[in-house]
Amino acid sequence: MTRAAADIQVGVDAAAAALRARIGDRLDGDAPHVAITMGSGLGGLGEEIEDPVRVPYEDLPGWPRPTVIGHAGHALIGTLGGRPVLGLSGRVHLYEGGPPERVVFYVRVAAALGIPVLFLSNAAGAIREGWHPGELMLVSDHLNLTGTSPLIGPVVGTENRFPDLTFAYDRELRTIVRGTASELGQTLHEGVYAAMHGPAFETPAEIRMLRALGADAVGMSTVPEVIAARALGIRCVAVSCLTNYAAGVLDEPLNHEEVLETTKLAQAGFQRLVELSAARCPGPAAPTR
Ligand code: HPA
Repeated sequence: MTRAAADIQVGVDAAAAALRARIGDRLDGDAPHVAITMGSGLGGLGEEIEDPVRVPYEDLPGWPRPTVIGHAGHALIGTLGGRPVLGLSGRVHLYEGGPPERVVFYVRVAAALGIPVLFLSNAAGAIREGWHPGELMLVSDHLNLTGTSPLIGPVVGTENRFPDLTFAYDRELRTIVRGTASELGQTLHEGVYAAMHGPAFETPAEIRMLRALGADAVGMSTVPEVIAARALGIRCVAVSCLTNYAAGVLDEPLNHEEVLETTKLAQAGFQRLVELSAARCPGPAAPTR
């Protein structure tokens, strides 16, 4: 059952006000230039945020709490390469249940705070031949195969009813990430991310289907957030850490622990890439003070 748009917005505004107070303590009134969503096992990026103020999600009214292992739950306010950022360690997935609006709550809060860029990370299974676990993929586009949308129901706040997704993954931001990867000597593939509802991993037949549909990697996150962000005018960029071969690519089973282990191995390169790229993202168009 979808809630009334006004109720959703009231909840978002309350959480934004609570977060704004903490942002004021740390960033002297500056709105963060970038919100960074740390995917499964990639919360280590939070350690790169300088002098962070850590706000547990339970201190933020109405903030949905993630339940999956590998996902802590707190916001980090600080600077990265001198730029004010909001780090989000732990996110809610569609497979945790409840309405899709829970998954994009933080995106609506980011919009309420005036944050212009959303930098997402995730763990994904590699579908494309020749791509291997431990490598990174810049998301160029997505296939929403979750069977749902966070925008179903009444229009919330200033959201666009029919957001355009032609350039959902911002070209300028992708150029920045690509350039950063090449400076770092970091291998960075680029491809299409297929979002599945989960929580079961896919069957080999489903992976063959996804490959035929043009998917290069598969995961269970990111797409709802990007859809909501585009409806709110937030620019998006997403990097996947390929944590495993998708089901059936090898003749062996896959599991969540393997996903977490591979993210640990890939974490250092991934962190540097996100950290440097995020610091290079353009800030707000106009001063926010
Ligand atoms: N499938 C779906 N989600 C995932 C995978 C996968 O193979 N790996 C990490 N997240």
